[in-house]
Amino acid sequence: MHVDRRNPPATLLTHASQLLTLRGGDGGPRRWTQMCELGIIDDGAVLIAGEKIAAVGTTDEITKHELAKQAEDIDCSGKVILPGFVDSHTHPVFTAPRLIDFEKRIAGASYEDIAASGGGIRASLRGVRESSKQALAVHVLRALDDMAAQGTTSVEAKSGYGLSFEAEMKSLEAIGEASEQWPGAVVPTLLAAHVFPPEYREDHDEYVRLICDEIIPAAAKRKLAEFVDVFCERGAFSLQRSEHILRAAIGNGLGVRAHVCQLTLTNLVPLLRLHPASLDHMDFVADDDISALARVDTVATLLPAANYFLGLRSFPPARKLIDSGVAVALATDYNPGTAPTPSMPFVLSAACTHMKMSPAEAITAATYNGACALRLQARKGSLEPGKDADIAVFDVRDYRELAYWFGVSRCCETFLRGLRRRRSVATSCLP
Ligand code: NIG
Ligand code: FE
Repeated sequence: MHVDRRNPPATLLTHASQLLTLRGGDGGPRRWTQMCELGIIDDGAVLIAGEKIAAVGTTDEITKHELAKQAEDIDCSGKVILPGFVDSHTHPVFTAPRLIDFEKRIAGASYEDIAASGGGIRASLRGVRESSKQALAVHVLRALDDMAAQGTTSVEAKSGYGLSFEAEMKSLEAIGEASEQWPGAVVPTLLAAHVFPPEYREDHDEYVRLICDEIIPAAAKRKLAEFVDVFCERGAFSLQRSEHILRAAIGNGLGVRAHVCQLTLTNLVPLLRLHPASLDHMDFVADDDISALARVDTVATLLPAANYFLGLRSFPPARKLIDSGVAVALATDYNPGTAPTPSMPFVLSAACTHMKMSPAEAITAATYNGACALRLQARKGSLEPGKDADIAVFDVRDYRELAYWFGVSRCCETFLRGLRRRRSVATSCLP
């Protein structure tokens, strides 16, 4: 990635055909028709000072700003500017693609069949356990760079392929090391409760004890994680065990989130009592739980790239959730088993085509509501003075094109806390 680490005193982006500000929220996640309000400014401009946004408005207004006179000017004619994507659910600490699983699935096996026959999450364990922290950090950094190339500026990153005390700590440290070298924001999440590792096959209670009494306290004490996640699902962690683990997280001062309802329906009420920042996947949700979700600030994070990659016919019920008042976010779920993609634009495409979200709803879900899912909305997710200068520039004239094109990257610039990341010269946008 080419990042210009010498920030000019100020940078001025001008003449965007559309500037999507997403400004004017009330501090909570967006729901209902609020998800369609992109706060569009035609012929828009953004003034960046250091790591922060100094001003947004029309080009006419912003060029009169005192600071604009000394700013480096970047002409964004014919382009769309928006807040950088917030990818609020990723699993980047792995070392190799799972090609055997891939071929088995093509031949007709399901995700659960493959896991039961020795593939799945456990097939990624050995690579992580045998790798050094530095080697893992290289994999994570590469994923972060791929994400930034597609307009992502904030990423939640989970451990979860180590599944021992040492390998989970090493995974979180690798996330920390990669995040020091990446100018965007990385939110580390402990996912020791992904599946039961082989050595605890006969003693699940003991692995839960290890997570609650040793792994979570150590991750909290060493400030290696901000959240604890759990895969609450048939074949992984029961609702009761999930609750127990998340309570231990809260007891250690960490935030909580969970993978739920990916393969089967789970009663969400006990989890909602723990005030999770987000509940993710949500393919199968009961009507009562949808009503309960609509009353709280927990974000439902939908991950349609996983449905696409698993070749499923059904997708999460985005329309029903949004039309019931649930706050919905979109994320990639970047991982080697169900979603090997770093691309939020691909997720927008899948969300619109397969879940019938409007392009405006999908953009809100991938920016502002993603920030809410990480509790970062005070700094991220919209372009407003005082917020972090996390910005994506796309070589399209109309915001709806962000979700329209697929299989091609139209992102031409990303600003990560004010640092400019450009596409390499050979592929840079034409004027
Ligand atoms: O979100 N479902 C649990 N975790 C991941 C898949 C992990 C894997 O298969 O490696 C998911 O889809
Ligand atoms: Fe996941």
